[in-house]
Amino acid sequence: MSFVLKNWMDDARVRVEAALRQMLDGYRGHVPELLHESMSYSLLAGGKRIRPLLVLGSAEACAGASASLQRAVMDAAVAIEMVHTYSLIHDDLPSMDNDDLRRGLPTNHRKFSESTAILAGDGLLTEVFAVLAKGTEPCRTRLCALFAKHSGARGMVGGQVDDTSSEREDTVAFLDRINRRKTGDLLALSCAAGACAAGADETRIESMARIGYLMGHAFQQWDDVLDVEGDPALMGKATGNDAQQAKLTYPRLIGLDETRRAAHRNIDEARALIEPWMPRAEALMALAGAMVDRKS
Ligand code: IPE
Ligand code: IPE
Ligand code: MG
Ligand code: MG
Ligand code: MG
Repeated sequence: MSFVLKNWMDDARVRVEAALRQMLDGYRGHVPELLHESMSYSLLAGGKRIRPLLVLGSAEACAGASASLQRAVMDAAVAIEMVHTYSLIHDDLPSMDNDDLRRGLPTNHRKFSESTAILAGDGLLTEVFAVLAKGTEPCRTRLCALFAKHSGARGMVGGQVDDTSSEREDTVAFLDRINRRKTGDLLALSCAAGACAAGADETRIESMARIGYLMGHAFQQWDDVLDVEGDPALMGKATGNDAQQAKLTYPRLIGLDETRRAAHRNIDEARALIEPWMPRAEALMALAGAMVDRKS
C-alpha cells in the first residue's frame, strides 16, 4: 500500500495532542491557575503541529528507536511545540508584531494581559528543559544542548531580534539570514532532535538539521506568501500585517511568483537530501512537500 501522509499525520497528531495534554495536566496545582490557563490556552489552541510531526518523522527516518528512546522522541516532540508556542505568544505582543488573532482565537495578551502572556511564554520555555531532562537516556543531555542552541540567542531569538530591528538591509541575503534563524532554526531543531532522540550519531543529526533549514526556508517563504494572499479564516491569523508593518519579506523583495518558485526549489533540495534514506523517510519526505502549496 502506498504511503498516505494524511493517515500518518492524523495518527501522529492524536499522539502529540495527548502528550501535550498529559504534560500540562502534570503542572496543574503546581503553578498559579491563571498561568496554567494562559499556557494551556495557546498550547491547545490547535496549531498545525508541523514541528512535532517533523520530530516524529525524522526519528522514523533514523529508525530503530527502542521503547525507551520512543519516550525521548515524544518528549522532544512536546518540547518543540512548547518552544514554538512560546515564540508565537511573544511574536504577537504589541511590542513585536502586535497581532490580535492566533490559531483562530484572540492572541494570548488579548485574552489575558500583556504581562500574563510574557510570563506564559517564559513558563513554557523554561519547562521545556524539565521535559527534556526527565529521563535517563544519554541523548537527553544532547537534546538540551540542541534546544538551547537553536531556540535561543544563536537561533530563533536572534532571528526575531533581526526581524524587528530597524537596522536592516533590504536585500535577499539579509532576509535569508533573518529567516534562517527566526524560522529555520526551529525546523532544523525539529529534525535534529528527532534524529538525536532516536539514537542517531552526530553526522546524521547534522544532516537532519540541514534538511530542516531548507524546509524552514521554504516554510517562511510560504508564510510570507500567505500573509499577502491567504484566507485568514483558514489560517486563523490576520493577513496583510507584514505590509502594514513594512516587514522585510520575500514577496516584497522578489514578488509572489518568484517567492513560490524559490520555496519549491528549497523543498526540491531537501527532498534530494532525504532520498537516500527512503523508504524509512517516507513520512519526512511527505512532510517536506507539505511546507509549500499550503493554505494555512
Ligand atoms: C507560524 O508557524 C510562525 C512561523 C514560523 C511562520 P505555524 O504556521 O507553524 O503556526 P501554527 O503552529 O500552525 O499555529
Ligand atoms: C514568526 O514569524 C517567527 C517566530 C514566531 C519565531 P512571523 O511573524 O512571520 O509569524 P506569523 O506570520 O506571525 O505567524
Ligand atoms: Mg514576527
Ligand atoms: Mg508575526
Ligand atoms: Mg508571517
